[in-house]
Amino acid sequence: MATISVAVLASGRGSNFKAILDGIKNKDTDAGIEVLITDNPHAYAIEYAKAEDISVEIVDFKEFARREDADLRIKELLDAYETDLVVLAGYMRILRGKELFDAYRYRIINIHPSLLPAFKGSTNAQKDAFEYGCKVSGLTIHFVTDDVDGGPIIYQQAVDISECRSAEEVSEKILREEHNSYKRVIDSFSKGRYLIEGRKAIYVKD
Ligand code: GRF
Repeated sequence: MATISVAVLASGRGSNFKAILDGIKNKDTDAGIEVLITDNPHAYAIEYAKAEDISVEIVDFKEFARREDADLRIKELLDAYETDLVVLAGYMRILRGKELFDAYRYRIINIHPSLLPAFKGSTNAQKDAFEYGCKVSGLTIHFVTDDVDGGPIIYQQAVDISECRSAEEVSEKILREEHNSYKRVIDSFSKGRYLIEGRKAIYVKD
């Protein structure tokens, strides 16, 4: 089967993007990253893309009258790069565009640093888990729908945070597992597919 063509959307430091690039290099992940799309011209993720000669497209929301128009631009870019799978890796905008969702239904995935539905919608889920006194938190990789952090769950990994003494320590511990998990989940898309039944994503190997 042909290697899947991936577009990564990231807004910031890009450590998950880097881990995916390393996964591809180490042959843990059968995928080709065609483009990095970012809303932030200063995102460090851009440096990782440049180092690998990956195209970078900046979709600056200030240039669009409506949020939906920016999402439409993203959809046009995904089409142009013949994207099979859209990977959100620290992308800080909420996707809303109907055209985008219609065209890429169940082909957009996100990683969230908690065991959803705990801390759903939080932009600081690691701190929230620490302050709540959770002993276990983790990460969730899920399909993106118009329900923020509410799409069908693809993969979850629990992380013991009972010994963590700060929110930063929680973030670091979860991030290590994010880096291990995302590349393997992306690889699963090259070896099978996910059937959606209600809220459930059921994996079927090719
Ligand atoms: C990660 O914690 C991810 O779970 C969340 O945003 C953060 C992105 O980090 N969605 P990075 O930019 O990949 O380093």
